[in-house]
Amino acid sequence: MPEEFDPYILGIFCNWCSYAGADAAGTSRMQRPANLRIIRVMCSGRVDATFVLKALANGADGILICGCFPGDCHYVEGNYKTERKIPIVQKLISQFGINPNRVKLQWISASDSVELTELVKEYVEEIRELGPNPMKKEKREKWEKEKS
Ligand code: FES
Repeated sequence: MPEEFDPYILGIFCNWCSYAGADAAGTSRMQRPANLRIIRVMCSGRVDATFVLKALANGADGILICGCFPGDCHYVEGNYKTERKIPIVQKLISQFGINPNRVKLQWISASDSVELTELVKEYVEEIRELGPNPMKKEKREKWEKEKS
């Protein structure tokens, strides 16, 4: 029986809203898949293309970037910059043959712990469907063989 692919997803969350939402979910004991490992940045605007490229090169199967809703950024326009940057990063990775859905941007407020929990569950399933990051060649080949 084929082994189920267990994706590794890197979360990059802004400190003020998204990380607080994740924290609130944890405090409320909401269960979400353990596939997501979160690192905290002060603002989603801090995320640049090199973060995503390095994460993919180091084997992340998906990258979930979360920030404050437009108009709520604590640095006024950081998330507007993120909103413009991420589609460019998605286009860039697709040039390398990597599915752009491996990078996802989502707005999560501090009170969105339920939404965050659902988002993580859905994203883990989406990445599980995509299979392992093609940069992890051996794992990818094994997964493709088992799937066919
Ligand atoms: Fe949260 Fe800027 S402080 S996106």
